[in-house]
Amino acid sequence: SGPATVSPTGQPTGAEQARVAQSGNYLTTAQGVRLYDTDHSLKAGPRGPVLLQDHHLREKVMHFDHERIPERVVHARGAAAHGVFRSYGTAASVTKAAFLAEDEETPVFVRFSTVLGSRGSADAVRDTRGFATKFYTSEGVFDLVGNNIPVFFIQDAIKFPDVIHAGKPHPDREIPQAQSAHDTFWDFVTLHTEATHHTLWTMSGRGIPRSYRMMEGFGVHTFRLVDAEGATTLVKFHWKPRLGVHSLVWEEAQIINGVDPDFHRRDLADAIEAGAYPQWELGIQTFPDTPEQTFEGIDLLDPTNIVPEELAPVQPVGLLTLNRNPSNYFAETEQVAFHAGHLVPGVDITDDPLLAGRLFSYLDTQITRLGGPNFPQLPINRPHAPVNDMLRDGMHQTAVHRGVAPYRPNSLDGGCPFVAGADAGAYVETPVRVPEAAKVREAPESFADHFSQPRRFWLSMTRVEREHIIGAYTFELGKCYEQAVRERGLRVLANIDAELCAAVAEGLGLPAPRPTEPLAEVTPSPALSQLGRSWPAD
Ligand code: HEM
Repeated sequence: SGPATVSPTGQPTGAEQARVAQSGNYLTTAQGVRLYDTDHSLKAGPRGPVLLQDHHLREKVMHFDHERIPERVVHARGAAAHGVFRSYGTAASVTKAAFLAEDEETPVFVRFSTVLGSRGSADAVRDTRGFATKFYTSEGVFDLVGNNIPVFFIQDAIKFPDVIHAGKPHPDREIPQAQSAHDTFWDFVTLHTEATHHTLWTMSGRGIPRSYRMMEGFGVHTFRLVDAEGATTLVKFHWKPRLGVHSLVWEEAQIINGVDPDFHRRDLADAIEAGAYPQWELGIQTFPDTPEQTFEGIDLLDPTNIVPEELAPVQPVGLLTLNRNPSNYFAETEQVAFHAGHLVPGVDITDDPLLAGRLFSYLDTQITRLGGPNFPQLPINRPHAPVNDMLRDGMHQTAVHRGVAPYRPNSLDGGCPFVAGADAGAYVETPVRVPEAAKVREAPESFADHFSQPRRFWLSMTRVEREHIIGAYTFELGKCYEQAVRERGLRVLANIDAELCAAVAEGLGLPAPRPTEPLAEVTPSPALSQLGRSWPAD
């Protein structure tokens, strides 16, 4: 066998180190053959034709030709950082997850993103932001794949292709390149009124954050925590930025997008480089795991709902600190593969129909994006826990698996026999009772209320926040070509609030319609306003 190229810790050694560092005294081909010149093609004389026999030219250009991989189908533009999560232990009473035990420190990788723009689009567009965290826990990888808005556009994942088709640029002209102002987006969100709540959040300052460092993050769905005895608690995850929640105003955002389209990624990288490490507290809202899965009348399986913090306070459970920039954008930020189904013992899912679709979608899309099924072997995706998965071969396999018997039990390799008790610490799905019911393609009755939560959000805003929201709707609807879409937009606003509808109608020069259903009686939730909001609360 040749010289070892990988140390026992997995770090490259010797010649391998020089290869990945891309430094050294001389260049070689990919096959390790030394080169004397990489600037001139092989030609028949200095002014003659280039020769096909130039193996170095062919290898160099061939590799360059294949440097790009497909961008993510959504969340294509992102920026990321490494860090550490330190758990307070305050969640240990409701979950057995090791990474939430007292004083446990877990390495993390966090990727922030816009949803709709392409990889080269601007940062400060009006859009939802992704906030995806990979925890490399001692029990395997846990991904919390969240957004900076606590609700989602749709209630069922089967509509995800539709909402994204509507939100991406028009198929004919590829305009606009981000979420702002287009007919298909406004057509969708006014026809599918479950999108009203999320749309209202994006029309507020939340859609144009000042900095990734100043955004909240949300797991959105209700998850299920499981303790050591198997007792369960329903939970919503929150990230609370230590710097408070701050937004741009629209005029600033527009100028920034022209002057510095990299504004957010620059801000994140510069802050970390300067030692101003961004921090978030992870918090949980907990709810009893009752068969109804509701809390104070709010359906916890409907991802267009929040639970006001006044009804269920967010309890801090740990601190996230981002302290290291990636050293290679492609290898880390681009090749990282998050998945809502990467769970660890102590954290389980619920029957939210949006979450169910995500459990399929992420792995599926990554097979295309990352070229086959072996992307968990990429350095950024590798768990920090031992892996013995019996998975073999496939495109871009880099492991040289040993043994002849990749199945369990086997009597040939002596690998992984069934031993009593060896499964302690395994991921065991919670034996939740499935209701006896006929197969149907329909939503529950409780998913039909699309306006009372948006109304609560609107009524919870301060005056200046309301002005920003009115300005955003007026700008966005005003840019729609179709009068019918603008009018339908106003009809949706009429079902949220008369003042909001009238102000936008005036801006558009259109009559304000009347609501089509009685406005809900709701109590405002001051915690929804971001004005002067800091964490922990002053
Ligand atoms: C990517 C969040 C719903 C499909 C992402 C990312 C985030 C995210 C943060 C970017 C991950 C990264 O930085 O690499 C969410 C949230 C959702 C949601 C919070 C709802 C609560 C859905 C649904 C689907 C879906 C319903 C499909 C049925 C995808 C796909 C990607 C993605 C295909 C690209 C993944 C990749 O290429 O690696 N999502 N998403 N998402 N999401 Fe979602």
